[in-house]
Amino acid sequence: MPNTILHKAKLIPGQTSKLVIDAPLIAAKAKPGNFVILRVTDKGERIPLTIADVDAGAGTITIVYLVLGKTTALLEELDQGDDILDLCGPLGQPTHIEKCGTVICVGGGTGIAAMHHIAKGHHMAGNHVVAVIGARSKDLLLFHDELTAFCPEVLVSTDDGSFGHKGLVTEVLEDRLKSDDSVAEVVGIGPVPMMAAVAKTTKPFGVKTTVSLNSIMVDGIGMCGACRVTVGGEVKFACVDGPEFDGQQVDFMELRQRLASFRDQESISYEEYKKSHG
Ligand SMILES: Cc1cc2nc3c(=O)[nH]c(=O)nc-3n(C[C@H](O)[C@H](O)[C@H](O)COP(=O)(O)OP(=O)(O)OC[C@H]3O[C@@H](n4cnc5c(N)ncnc54)[C@H](O)[C@@H]3O)c2cc1C
Ligand code: FES
Repeated sequence: MPNTILHKAKLIPGQTSKLVIDAPLIAAKAKPGNFVILRVTDKGERIPLTIADVDAGAGTITIVYLVLGKTTALLEELDQGDDILDLCGPLGQPTHIEKCGTVICVGGGTGIAAMHHIAKGHHMAGNHVVAVIGARSKDLLLFHDELTAFCPEVLVSTDDGSFGHKGLVTEVLEDRLKSDDSVAEVVGIGPVPMMAAVAKTTKPFGVKTTVSLNSIMVDGIGMCGACRVTVGGEVKFACVDGPEFDGQQVDFMELRQRLASFRDQESISYEEYKKSHG
């Protein structure tokens, strides 16, 4: 399967891009919450990326990535017409979606793209989806128009106040929860501190809270143990048991520590990549 990139859009130039990939076998099975693991070069690492959208009819999946280190920089070198070396998926448990009323989907940074597919799934199930999205500034806000197309409410926060509420997504979430005691579920996807803050915000309201954990992954099929997380005092593997878990039960401190395990090697590898690419 060639995994050809049919379309590439630089959503935030030099930082975040979207790829629409020809992957009919994955597109036929992918559900909200699933992810893929891909490899760009034959000696390169395998990285997980969430499936941000699917068109089963066209046989395509969409991924959105932040250029953070060597592998995402190598991915960024690919363009429309290029093939991705390997693409494995759909992986992970799909999001549990049922008709339940109002669902607030909170997304921060690149997490907004991952949240988009879940929000769409809740909309298709007949739920009233409130999207709460945040970024440092208006230029860095992803998927606003895509979410506006099906969410009756899209609430925005930016750190610098250039669009929507000046402040954090959790402040918008808290206000929305205070004004409505019928919210059935809150879904939070973004940087680990943001997901921890979402869980803290929803706790006093007693609302079911789902977060999607971006732990380090290698095989993505439950064999290597790299993605080990602690949820409700039990060991879980994010790749096969998740990546979504009850936000009130996740040990976010441990997750942050484990994500930092290879920071020195990651930064050496990225610096070497940058030197070799001028
Ligand atoms: C289920 C899941 C879904 C994800 N979805 C997205 C997405 O849709 N868009 C997006 O931009 N990012 C997503 N990520 C994070 C993405 O995998 C990392 O940003 C990527 O691996 C970075 O690789 P790198 O070589 O460019 O950077 P590196 O320099 O190697 O790493 C930068 C940071 O990325 C994390 N990371 C590194 N390697 C891995 C790995 N193999 N698995 C997981 N995290 C790693 C570490 O926290 C590290 O500090 C997801 C992660 C998971 C687990
Ligand atoms: S990535 Fe290897 S067990 Fe989850």
